[in-house]
Amino acid sequence: MINNISIPIEKTGDREKIAGYAIYLGDMKPEGMLYAKTLRSDRPRARISKIDIPSMPEGYYIVDKNDVPGKNRVKIITDDQPIFAEDTVNYIGEPILLVVGPDKQRILELISEIHVEYQDLEPIFTMEAAENRSLPPIYGEDNCFAEYSYSRGNADRIFSEAKLVVEDEYETGYQEHIYMEPQGMLGVYEDNRITVYGSFQCPYYVSDALIQAFGWDSDRIRAVQTTTGGAFGGKEEYPSLIAGHVAIAAFKTGHPVQLIFDRTEDIEVTSKRHPSVICFKTALDDNNKILAIKADVSINAGAYAGLSSVVLQRIIFNVVGVYNIPNLEVYGKAVATNTVPAGAFRGFGGPQAFFAIEMHMHHIAKRLGLEPLDFKKKHMVKTGDPTATGGTFWDDVVLPDMIKSIEEMSGYREKVKSFNEKQGDSFRGIGVSLFYHGCGFTGSGERDHIKAVVKLRKYADGKVEILVSNVDMGQGLLTTFSKIVANTLELPIKNIIYVNPDTSRVPNSGPTVASRSVMIVGKLLEDAAIELKSRWNEASELEIIKNYKHPEYIKWDEEKLCGDAYPAYSWGVNAVEVEVDKLTYQIDVKGVWTVFDVGKAIDERIIQGQIEGGVLQGLGLAALEVMNCKGGKLQQRTITDYVIPTAMDFAKVESKLIDNPYKGGPFGAKGAGELTVVGAAPALAAAVCDALGVEIHRLPVTPEYLMEVAKNGKRD
Ligand code: MTE
Ligand code: MOS
Repeated sequence: MINNISIPIEKTGDREKIAGYAIYLGDMKPEGMLYAKTLRSDRPRARISKIDIPSMPEGYYIVDKNDVPGKNRVKIITDDQPIFAEDTVNYIGEPILLVVGPDKQRILELISEIHVEYQDLEPIFTMEAAENRSLPPIYGEDNCFAEYSYSRGNADRIFSEAKLVVEDEYETGYQEHIYMEPQGMLGVYEDNRITVYGSFQCPYYVSDALIQAFGWDSDRIRAVQTTTGGAFGGKEEYPSLIAGHVAIAAFKTGHPVQLIFDRTEDIEVTSKRHPSVICFKTALDDNNKILAIKADVSINAGAYAGLSSVVLQRIIFNVVGVYNIPNLEVYGKAVATNTVPAGAFRGFGGPQAFFAIEMHMHHIAKRLGLEPLDFKKKHMVKTGDPTATGGTFWDDVVLPDMIKSIEEMSGYREKVKSFNEKQGDSFRGIGVSLFYHGCGFTGSGERDHIKAVVKLRKYADGKVEILVSNVDMGQGLLTTFSKIVANTLELPIKNIIYVNPDTSRVPNSGPTVASRSVMIVGKLLEDAAIELKSRWNEASELEIIKNYKHPEYIKWDEEKLCGDAYPAYSWGVNAVEVEVDKLTYQIDVKGVWTVFDVGKAIDERIIQGQIEGGVLQGLGLAALEVMNCKGGKLQQRTITDYVIPTAMDFAKVESKLIDNPYKGGPFGAKGAGELTVVGAAPALAAAVCDALGVEIHRLPVTPEYLMEVAKNGKRD
């Protein structure tokens, strides 16, 4: 029993991982297992006219579209992506078929003997090209997978009377997850049932996708999560595609079939963070107060829609950041191109939106000769203020305290002063970002789509098992959920059982995404534990089930995109200090300070891990991680040329947590997993702007990009 839930305990699973005996998918080798390798399109857009396949030796198989028992579509929001290509391919790397067999080398030889005859079609690679109506569209009439808009007040009237109108454009690139364990799946067909084992975030997304692919009843389909070496959103929707591959292969061959990507294949063909372009038009009055913003968002979705519509929603709802802007007009679209499909990535659109708005605020302040943080503070939302979509910030907004803390920790004010005084001989700068992350699904997702169910089972020996479909992918759920239940039941932690979920045993408590697990599912577990405690002596074995109940006061209109887009918000303030080399424009990060409000930490060390990892991932997006696409082909395909940060690249993060318990979360906890990645890029970029006296409009901030902007706007 833990008195203060925030006090760290040993993280479940770490011992096994460190010692090397944790079982990952690659360690599983059931009797008779075959390997699979994917034959992929090497064309960005083409019709497949013919496939010449050599005769397969004994024990080797081809698995393709003709083997799909049900619907040849990956089940996700719009179901537009085939499991195996049919008559056309739409991006380089699109799966066409599998070669399956006992020997990996032989499989590669057989793959190389297959010849696909294509009839090339005119591809579209960029958002600009997709918008050019003179080219034939590749999707629908306008290459748009999704399009949304919403407004508040009357922006047009304000613009006609504004004292000053500022227009800006911001651009962000791809980001690749580089989870340590590449994607992988194992399919088994046994007793007329399909089971897939794999490294994934969403057991029920996988099983639902297979139910559709096979057209079978749910009791014949089972998905089991294996110890997952990181996911970061990359194992949210993509695993449903390869689960289809191995399951269909297992069904056809009668053998267990394993498909594991190597790093290059993983980088080339799995989803990425959406590249974005965000344009602002902002109106200010005589007192330098922003009265209206028009924002126009485009994201490059790639060849299939996937989750792009919901990523886009999060971007447009976050696009004015932590500021109360009375008049708004926001438009966004997800654009189809013949490139690898983009998808979920920690922050889910938040990093793109907050980079844009934080830089925009910074640049406006500088252009007006104002101190950026003071300018931001004048526009910040307060408790009870309306949100961009006309909802309400219901819970305590403690940004002023957080800013005070960051100023003290980083020495922001003194540094701004001293760096400015020493203009010319020191390219040093410090920047601050303010941000939030809406916890849980956007809009009515939890209420109308997910409808989470959790179960607690008490056994005769007094042990209690947590039965949920949420997974530990490094973010520590095995520990935090167990703590919530143990603490509520006043039981030692060793009496709580919680193993990797298996859809044949656990109810659907929803996917492990949107930083929802602790706040939404953890709350249901807390409620279940409270009930179990009160009924503890009723019987030696007991089962308690809890269903998600939507808070009455959280209202959302899906048609009008109006109301509370999120039930609650976690908040962050980051400061980054840099020194930029005068010759090479290399950025040396001298200090990183963070203050977060995640309600209440369920385990401070786990939150610390989320902070260090998330901030590093955000700094990578900010300054290191370059990924270009040329002719539909990604140029960076290994971790030698796609460089992610290591602990050596940036200064150690100094962090502080603000206790601000949320009544709707277990022990007051809100979401924490994604928040930590959101604010690093705008803080670093602001610091670099400060150091060089330039404006930054694009991520990543590479030395090459800095040289370019320094030529245009270097301070004197
Ligand atoms: N932390 C680790 N170590 N590994 C991960 O894969 N995924 C992130 C974040 N933190 C991730 C992580 C993402 S994308 C999400 S949505 C949240 O964890 C989900 O966890 P939660 O719902 O438990 O907050
Ligand atoms: Mo996280 S991007 O919601 O899996």
